[in-house]
Amino acid sequence: MRVSIVGGSGYAGGELLRLLLQHPHVNIYQVTSERYRGKPVYTVHPNLRKSTDMKFCSMEDLEDVDLLFTALPHKHLMKNFDTFRDLSERIIDLSADFRLKNPEDYKKWYDIDHPEPELLKEFVYGIVEIHREEIKKTRYVSCAGCNATVTILSLYPILKSSFIDTERPIVAEAKCGSSEGGNKVSEASHHPERSGCVRSYRPTAHRHIAEMIQELGHPVHFSATSIEMVRGILVTSHVFLKEEIKEMDIWKLYRKEYWNEPFIRIVKTKSGIYRYPEPKILAGTNYCDIGFEVDNDRVVIVGAIDNLMKGAAGQGVHAMNVMCGFEETAGLKFTGLHPI
Ligand SMILES: NC(=O)c1ccc[n+]([C@@H]2O[C@H](COP(=O)([O-])OP(=O)(O)OC[C@H]3O[C@@H](n4cnc5c(N)ncnc54)[C@H](OP(=O)(O)O)[C@@H]3O)[C@@H](O)[C@H]2O)c1
Repeated sequence: MRVSIVGGSGYAGGELLRLLLQHPHVNIYQVTSERYRGKPVYTVHPNLRKSTDMKFCSMEDLEDVDLLFTALPHKHLMKNFDTFRDLSERIIDLSADFRLKNPEDYKKWYDIDHPEPELLKEFVYGIVEIHREEIKKTRYVSCAGCNATVTILSLYPILKSSFIDTERPIVAEAKCGSSEGGNKVSEASHHPERSGCVRSYRPTAHRHIAEMIQELGHPVHFSATSIEMVRGILVTSHVFLKEEIKEMDIWKLYRKEYWNEPFIRIVKTKSGIYRYPEPKILAGTNYCDIGFEVDNDRVVIVGAIDNLMKGAAGQGVHAMNVMCGFEETAGLKFTGLHPI
């Protein structure tokens, strides 16, 4: 299948390249970057040296393909949708431009009047575990935000259950790595400012909350903190129960929902140092690890992903596999590194 990547010089675009280069059913046709047009992709993504001799092209040079991945900053695809639609029957977007179903939410969370409100219902939200059947039938997928992905997957089984006390708040706190912010340099990403930080960067009103509410049907009190880590997110969520339940009941809920999922692992052991999910050992993998602990009428759920994989490119490739009828794990079999 002929596939191109728009925004290939970014961190998410680089991960798409890494995955698709070893995908058994994909030929990468073109990769765009305006800044690096004409330069080999390994000048920006040094890990790809000797994996490919491809060079970046400009968006103006794009030709027709079977599927287009778009990994541009927010608001670019929504404003230029016709151009991209003409190039490809299928589009998988990594930005926030088509994640939300209600156009009013774009006004509220992104301070923009969505230029293509009618198209919002044509995009399927990219979390395969929740929207597999819709993704099989669609042409357009909008991948979830990275923080939203891990928070939603962590909470989805328990919020579907009858155990939750909906009168009490659901609280989630994320620890985030620096690659979440993309490869654009800013004062906040300057090494002396970013290195070693534990910075509360969005204690309230994170835009991904809109996706959490949409997918979970429940408000989530979400805060995000930047920590010393390049890749990865760890989200610790607290939910309160109507009455005390046994740990085994939580096990059953999560097993029932995720047992057959190739990219979700329940991580909860009594001994060893990796007793709960930890982003470090997920680097480069498409797993979402989920663990939990019951404390009387509170359940603490811990979820971890690699933001550039399960939270972006890996999720996109998983959605492509489902959309195109490929084996779900094609191109996504990397098991991670230990020690790292
Ligand atoms: N980083 C993450 O963890 C993550 C997770 C989930 C979703 N996402 C989303 O995925 C998208 C890409 O993220 P990223 O982290 O890869 O960002 P990035 O590293 O900043 O890369 C952005 C890409 O878009 C291109 N670009 C930048 N400004 C542009 C403009 N004004 N017009 C056209 N192209 C432009 C850049 O290429 P040139 O400037 O070289 O042309 C680059 O290839 C974003 O929408 C982001 O929110 C990111």
